Amino acid sequence: MSTQRLSDAARVLGLLFSGGGRRDPARIYDFLSTHNNLAENSLYLNLGYWKNAKTYDAACEALAGLLGERAGLRRGDIVLDCGCGFGDQDHYWLQRFAPARITGINITQSQVSVAARRFPDPALTFMTADATRLPNPDQSCDKVLALESAFHFDPRDAFFHEARRVLKPGGTLALADVLVVLQPETHFARLVAKMGRSLWQTPECNAYGADVYRAKLEQAGFTDIKITLITEHVFKPFKSYARQRVLEDEIQQRVHPLLRKIWGGGHGGFNGMEYAIITAVRG
Ligand SMILES: C[S@@+](CC[C@H](N)C(=O)[O-])C[C@H]1O[C@@H](n2cnc3c(N)ncnc32)[C@H](O)[C@@H]1O
Repeated sequence: MSTQRLSDAARVLGLLFSGGGRRDPARIYDFLSTHNNLAENSLYLNLGYWKNAKTYDAACEALAGLLGERAGLRRGDIVLDCGCGFGDQDHYWLQRFAPARITGINITQSQVSVAARRFPDPALTFMTADATRLPNPDQSCDKVLALESAFHFDPRDAFFHEARRVLKPGGTLALADVLVVLQPETHFARLVAKMGRSLWQTPECNAYGADVYRAKLEQAGFTDIKITLITEHVFKPFKSYARQRVLEDEIQQRVHPLLRKIWGGGHGGFNGMEYAIITAVRG
């Protein structure tokens, strides 16, 4: 095995066994970089919406599209995208919904640099920032979106308060997010859940279901809260696709073997979880 492969394996194992304490999502996303993913041509990093999609890129774009529709994105909007990855969805939203401006913020600086290089459109701005401490002025946005990123925010409800602060009255917060509806019961299931949280650097305090989610949004000053479960179109079809995809030559060559094992494995990493689209209006 090459020295690079060995040091990468040490990084993944270090993440898997990093235990509790303050999370640092940039550790995993720096490691994923632009090659450790299942994408065909994009750099999306979400689980996708597979109702009609057959490829990873199409499923990720469909999820972005669904979130944009539920957010009510429209011409002239000032949009803030929190946890923007490599910017694919911002480029897509700009083409499809024609907002006036999208600012993508991301805690992972390496992703911000790549996004800015890939999409040099004057209507798109990419910045390194933490979603729990937004750099935007009060009441400056029409829409705030978080596409499969808010489970990382430490804690997620600090982001809810920040989203309310930066939204104009009547503005919309829209999220594609993971809910934890059943806590693991066996010792083994608890260990798998703990290692999953360590690998993906997600804080334990964000592991709650729809009722708590709704209550936290209300506490932050949101009304008209809608939580729609789309689980059946996300976890299972993602897993089926990933199992086949990791066998392809291209993926064997560029994706780290430990990640191929995780993405291609049969374990129930999504047990006890639901996938939801959530929208809420700033009261
Ligand atoms: C699962 S990826 C999703 C990326 C992108 N939205 C997509 O769908 O391809 C989660 C993203 O959230 C970002 N992130 C994690 N914690 C963050 C925080 N506190 N503030 C801003 N971005 C954060 C990560 O760097 C990563 O880009």
